[in-house]
Amino acid sequence: MSAGRSGRPTVVFTRRLPSPAEEQAARDFDARLNADDHTFTPVEIADALRTADALVPTVTDKVTAQLLGTEPLKVRIIANYGVGFNNIDTGAAKARGVVVTNTPDVLTEDTADDAILLMLMVARRGGEGEREVRAKTWTGWRPTHMLGTRVSGKTLGLIGLGRIGRAVAHRARHGFDMRVIFHDPYPPPPAVVAELGAEPRASVDDVLREADFVSLHSPATPETHHLIDARRLGLMKRGAFLINNARGDIVDEAALVAALKQGTIAGAGLDVFEREPTVSPELLTMNNVVLLPHIGSATHESRVAMGLRALDNLKTFFAGAPPRDRVA
Ligand code: 8YV
Repeated sequence: MSAGRSGRPTVVFTRRLPSPAEEQAARDFDARLNADDHTFTPVEIADALRTADALVPTVTDKVTAQLLGTEPLKVRIIANYGVGFNNIDTGAAKARGVVVTNTPDVLTEDTADDAILLMLMVARRGGEGEREVRAKTWTGWRPTHMLGTRVSGKTLGLIGLGRIGRAVAHRARHGFDMRVIFHDPYPPPPAVVAELGAEPRASVDDVLREADFVSLHSPATPETHHLIDARRLGLMKRGAFLINNARGDIVDEAALVAALKQGTIAGAGLDVFEREPTVSPELLTMNNVVLLPHIGSATHESRVAMGLRALDNLKTFFAGAPPRDRVA
């Protein structure tokens, strides 16, 4: 086992983690923590790849093929903190014999809650109403004030029925009596779909044509890049809302801005963006969008559990066994 000065593997953490996870990291490893929580530069990532046994990056670190080409390469495992791992070039990692893991399961429920939060906020004009109260421009109750769109009983279209999509479907069916339709090229077993009461559709387009709310729960892959583009936004109902707390680049943000301007769709609830933390300036001026700062998994519970899960993957790997969340 490759090890640092303490005799334990050296692990570089690119961001600060909640204290219980950092304390555990310091007990188990020669942990190099990021005390001031700055965003790592490519040079710092390359340095970690050259000098540590393991790297724990997050969505803010682009672990590119170029960085993975660094020589000499010491890192043997990249334990991503997050379920989505599109920040890592897994092909390049594989080519260099570097194992990649992620942190599924532990953030599913909170991320599903966040999708419901976006749906309710945008349909019931939650953000807009709160801004009005804070601006002291609320003049009092009236029957025609800030009318939104009913959520209960409507049709929810899910693009992707993985762990998070299924948790959203469960909430929508049982909490809001919604009809749930979905498209997933790799659907769960029919028994799971039947138990959820979700109805499959043959294509993304079919879901878009029929849904009152479209919520995205696909991984970010070359196939899903700009999956929601101008053409597909044009298929949605004029009164429909788009919800995205998966990854920003699944949606062509410029096309979304145009669709919102033209009234092609009614609104959008977004927790993720194409060029985070930059948000298209037009979105900031629109009242029919809800904008959250990538907080899908941002609960104490999930963020601690994500850290412990990444550490678990590292411990298993350095003990010589296959880590349970290996993705490459
Ligand atoms: C994380 C996420 O906060 O897990 C994911 O894929 O999008 C978020 O929940 C982020 O990725 C941390 O790296």
